[in-house]
Amino acid sequence: MSKQILDDPEKIEAIDKSKMLSFCVNAARLYGEGASLAAKIQVSYPTPDNIIIAGMGGSGIGGDLLKDWARNKLEVPIEVNREYALPQYAGKKTLVLITSYSGDTEESLGAFLDALKRKCMIFCVSSGGALLEHAERLRVPFLRVPGGMPPRAALPYLFIPLLLGLEKMGLVSGASEELSESLKLLGKISKDNAPEKPATENFSKTLASNVGKTAPVVYGFGIYRAVAMRYKQQFNENSKIPAKWEVFSELNHNEIVGWENAGELGKSFSAVFIRDEEEPVEIRTRIEITKELVGKLGLRSYEVQGQGKSVLAKMLSTICIGDFTSVYLAILRGVDPTPVKTINYLKDARKRNGVREKILEELAKLH
Ligand code: F6R
Repeated sequence: MSKQILDDPEKIEAIDKSKMLSFCVNAARLYGEGASLAAKIQVSYPTPDNIIIAGMGGSGIGGDLLKDWARNKLEVPIEVNREYALPQYAGKKTLVLITSYSGDTEESLGAFLDALKRKCMIFCVSSGGALLEHAERLRVPFLRVPGGMPPRAALPYLFIPLLLGLEKMGLVSGASEELSESLKLLGKISKDNAPEKPATENFSKTLASNVGKTAPVVYGFGIYRAVAMRYKQQFNENSKIPAKWEVFSELNHNEIVGWENAGELGKSFSAVFIRDEEEPVEIRTRIEITKELVGKLGLRSYEVQGQGKSVLAKMLSTICIGDFTSVYLAILRGVDPTPVKTINYLKDARKRNGVREKILEELAKLH
C-alpha cells in the first residue's frame, strides 16, 4: 500500500470525514481533560473488598487498562464484567464502576440493575442516556462526561476518572504523578505521529502501511495486556479489518502452534509485538524466540516500543501510537474510521428483542 496518500491533507480530510485523527492529535489535551473531570468526583464509600468495572467495547477497555495498571498497587481484586449480570461474589462490599459512554448499552444497564439489587457500592461514568437518568433518580453517584464523541475516542474521559477516582478513595497511589509524565509524553508522540509529519519520519504511518492488507495479530504482555486488546479493537472499529490479540507467555502455550500449518494463510497476517526496554528477561527471550518462529512460518513482524518511565506513560504512549496507526490504516484502505454501522445495526436489532425494555422497566420500579 502506498503511504503517500497519508502525506496528502486533502485526501486525509476526504476519507476521515468525522475527524477521528483529531482525537489522536489532541490526545494530551483530552487525557488532561479527563483529569479535570475526575477532580469533580466525590465518593465516600468505605474500602471495598473487591472492585468490578462493568462496561463494553470502547467503554470496557478503560476497566482493563485500570486492572493492568493497578496490578502491583491495588490490595483488593479487580475484575472487568462484560456480562448482563455480575459474578456471584458481588455484594455490599463490592465497588461497581459502571462505564458506558452512551449510557444506553444493554449489558451495562443490566449490570447496573444487578449491582443495585445486590446493594453494591456503585459509581457510574457516562455522558448520559438511561444510565445517568436512573442513577440521578436513584441517587447513585456518577460522573457526567461530555458527549458527542465515538465512545472509543472518549477513552481519556472514561479511563482517567476511574484511575484518579481510585486514587481519591485511597485505594492506589501515584496515579496523578504518572499522569503528569504521560501528558508530556503524549504531547510529543502526537507531534511525532501527526499527519503533518511525512510518512518517512512518521512511525504510525509506516506501521499502518506495513500492516497494509494483512490482519494484524497484536502480542502484548504484563502491563501491555489491555493495550494489545485496545489495538485489536481500534483495528476493528477504525480500520475495519479483522484483528486479534494475545499475551505472553500464554501465547507460547497454544497460539504459536496455530501458525505451524498455516501455509499461505500465514501471509495474510502480520504480528505486532509490543516491546519495552524494561521488559522482564523471561518475556524478552520469549518475544525473541516467538518472533523468529513466526517469521519462519511466513508472518511479517513489527514492533512498537513502549515509552516513558511510569507504567501509565508506557501504556498510554503505546495506545496513542496504536490509535494513530488504526486511523492511518483506515485512510490507506479508503474507509472512514468513524462510523461503526455493524455495531449500530446490531444494537438496533437487539432493541426489537425487548431485553433492554425489560431492564429499563425493572430499573424504573426501583425508584
Ligand atoms: C464505538 C465503540 C463501541 C462502544 C460499545 C459500548 O465507538 O467503541 O465499542 O463503546 O458498543 O457502547 P458504550 O460505550 O456507549 O457503552
